[in-house]
Amino acid sequence: MKLLIKNIGILGGIDHDHSVRLCGEAMRRFETLASAYVLVQDGVFFDFGPMNQLDELLPHMGDVDVVDAGGGCVLPSWCDSHTHLVYAGSREQEFVDKINGLSYAEIARRGGGILNSADRLHRMSEDELYEQAMCRVREIMAKGTGAVEIKSGYGLNTADELKMLRVIKRIAATSPLRVVSTFLGAHAVGREYAGRQSDYVNLVVDEMLPAVAAEGLADYVDVFCDEGFFTPAETGRILNAAARYGLRGKIHGQELADSGGVQVAVEHQALSVDHLESMTEADVALLRESDTMPTALPGTSFFLNMPFAPARRMIDAGLPVAIASDYNPGSTPSGDMKFVVSLACIKMRLQPAEALNAATLNSAYAMGLSDSYGSIALGKVANFFITRPIPSVDFIPYAYTTPLIERVFLAGREVCLQSQLIT
Ligand code: NIG
Ligand code: FE
Repeated sequence: MKLLIKNIGILGGIDHDHSVRLCGEAMRRFETLASAYVLVQDGVFFDFGPMNQLDELLPHMGDVDVVDAGGGCVLPSWCDSHTHLVYAGSREQEFVDKINGLSYAEIARRGGGILNSADRLHRMSEDELYEQAMCRVREIMAKGTGAVEIKSGYGLNTADELKMLRVIKRIAATSPLRVVSTFLGAHAVGREYAGRQSDYVNLVVDEMLPAVAAEGLADYVDVFCDEGFFTPAETGRILNAAARYGLRGKIHGQELADSGGVQVAVEHQALSVDHLESMTEADVALLRESDTMPTALPGTSFFLNMPFAPARRMIDAGLPVAIASDYNPGSTPSGDMKFVVSLACIKMRLQPAEALNAATLNSAYAMGLSDSYGSIALGKVANFFITRPIPSVDFIPYAYTTPLIERVFLAGREVCLQSQLIT
């Protein structure tokens, strides 16, 4: 089964080197080819090149479906390496509370925030939870996301954490998105354990993790390692336990305070450490010696009116940086990766090329997927979208609210946008 995309105005995100991730200066290279074609076979990129070579190749291609890109731009689909998109209902009341001056931490202390979502999730059936999450999945596919990480963490007891993870598994089985699943039992202390945080950590280690591992429900393990949530020591304990099941960490660290999240993530060879709004120079030095991907979540800083992670400083220091949406009901109810790319440029001073790499190849790395997703490279899964004609790839973050995507292809198959996706 072959698919030819012809008349591509700009083909972007080409990576001949099959890089696993891009660090520092290399992030400025987002290779493009003007006037191009792409050939997909059996769901992977099989060939690409300049349009003026196509006439010669066409007679040898055999049976092939042809799509005319009409001069539009083709980019690898966004990779969104950090979301909480399985959740029940919404929390716009807290949005209003924030406008009225309450901080995220204050709302959490009053029993709102994560615990509010846990209560709602507890009351909702698994089927309803799945249906609500699938609306968000369709929304992000229409906006160009092709691979996504989804966390649990609104269950906060064994049964409800398993319920969330089963919903994530069902999304993976029923949507064309590539889905990575992360167990985040240590997102907050569940209500029944109020005031007994160490007992709750015991529950995560002794009951939740073995149950999650027994059902094969998670690819990674996350801990909210931050002031007012879990300590580095508790995080280390959970990561040690996870390692015994072959599960690597993806840590929430240093959002609210300089609370040791980066150090514990690096010490335990976590795949990524995310948020980083409160990171320090010492953290930059630690990350430089590690394989851990620092991941900024600019949508969260924007929505909460908080400082942004120092991504510019990190890249200038030679680090790789990924960006992701953090789609969740409390701190950023949006999975719009194009807007996240714009925010990275506008608020964190990334060059468009750096932000595009951060949202594709580096965010694929932050899910352990960069060998097969995140760039246009031969043999990689053919996840891509076609935009309307645009003057350059810089136009994508510049036109920061214009919907540019016209067609979406995942594993080489077109995903229907208008009627089915936008709900
Ligand atoms: O990544 N920081 C921790 N957890 C989420 C927010 C979850 C919520 O408020 O529901 C985040 O921002
Ligand atoms: Fe998060």
